[in-house]
Amino acid sequence: MNVADSEIVMSILKDAGFQQTKDINDAGLILINTCSIRENAEQRIWSKLKSIRHLKKKKKDLIVGLIGCMAERLKEQILETENLVDIVAGPDSYREIPLLISEAEAGHKAVNILLSREETYADISPVRMDKNGVSAFVSIMRGCNNMCAYCVVPYVRGAERSRDPKSILKEVRELFESGYREVTLLGQNVDSFKWNQNGNTIYFSELLEKVAKVSPLLRVRFSTSHPKDISDELLRTISQYDNICKHIHLPAQSGSTRILNLMNREYSREWYMDRIETIKKILPGCAISTDLITGFCTETDEDHKLTLSLIEWAGFDFAYMFKYSERPGTKAARKLKDDVPENIKTIRLNEIIALQNKVSSKSKKQDVGKVFEVLIEDRSKRTGDNLSGRTSQNKVVVFPEKGHRKGEYVNVLIDRCTSATLIGEII
Ligand code: 5AD
Ligand code: SF4
Repeated sequence: MNVADSEIVMSILKDAGFQQTKDINDAGLILINTCSIRENAEQRIWSKLKSIRHLKKKKKDLIVGLIGCMAERLKEQILETENLVDIVAGPDSYREIPLLISEAEAGHKAVNILLSREETYADISPVRMDKNGVSAFVSIMRGCNNMCAYCVVPYVRGAERSRDPKSILKEVRELFESGYREVTLLGQNVDSFKWNQNGNTIYFSELLEKVAKVSPLLRVRFSTSHPKDISDELLRTISQYDNICKHIHLPAQSGSTRILNLMNREYSREWYMDRIETIKKILPGCAISTDLITGFCTETDEDHKLTLSLIEWAGFDFAYMFKYSERPGTKAARKLKDDVPENIKTIRLNEIIALQNKVSSKSKKQDVGKVFEVLIEDRSKRTGDNLSGRTSQNKVVVFPEKGHRKGEYVNVLIDRCTSATLIGEII
């Protein structure tokens, strides 16, 4: 999501006459796009700021801006930081950045962290920062109306709002016409996409269908789904289109209903399991990935074991796994104690990672001997004479070139796998 946001900012800056440089020493303006989701994301930004201090000393007129979620959350502290930052702009103020730059040039601290109920940057054509020219992110909504107890997103990105489907489709068509072959539709909770048009309401499954119809040669992905909202209707839509990828990212967060209640996720372990069973029934062979948080307030060994057993039962193809990080101002920070000791969080996270590695390597081994349609995305990073791409299920495949190029679809027979990659031959 931050990459997509940076692409919007790049577009706004380009229109205002700015150019990008690859060398930070040449820059007259440095903008740092930030994330507040966990404390370590913010720590990295503080270190980054310190590391550019010498540039600021060398070049007196260098302007440094901090934008995004951390700007929203920590305006005061940021401005007080040793006079390093001149501009602070929250996620809904990107259009103001050129103005803020002028203010900073005039020697003032320039700040805008107003959140909006309408801003979706619908009319802005992002300047793509992905390098492959094959896959692109398309933001379809902003903000979030859920109130997961641990999560800072609703506070820093504001209320949920959907983007006009017309502008989404226009962006997708333009991407396809300029050679892109895969789009990932982005929102905090895509299942609650909703757009009213002349008394008609467009929901996510209809939007997805419209995007899939742009071309059968365009792969469509989306993220993130919420277990409480993902509908059978959406799953049926996915099943009807070969180009809607058979991969669903469905964050579980925990396998314990007691913890899910405390997290305010609005579903139980059983509900989550039912969603997985339904996905497997309507979409056989569909990959499922997840997010997991370990060490949330009051989590016991019993709760932890329930998370482990959920991982084993679901057989996730992939997971993002995190230690709980208390975020100031959230419901959990206000009402619950962050009482699982750090060393226990570490032990539990390591157990989760070890089990998930086992489970995902099993899922890869099951792919050996099968043929998958792969969209070629690039040269393999490790072995430059091989190509790499992904299956519809989002698994990375590496294979010898045989005269094919990125942007093409090829059928690849998988003959072996490593822990992260499938390896095969074009047939
Ligand atoms: N601590 C740890 N992980 C978090 N996430 C969100 N907030 C926190 C937090 N306070 C994780 C969730 C979410 C993913 C994007 O980040 O798993 O799905
Ligand atoms: Fe955060 Fe929950 Fe919204 Fe996801 S759905 S962004 S975890 S509040």
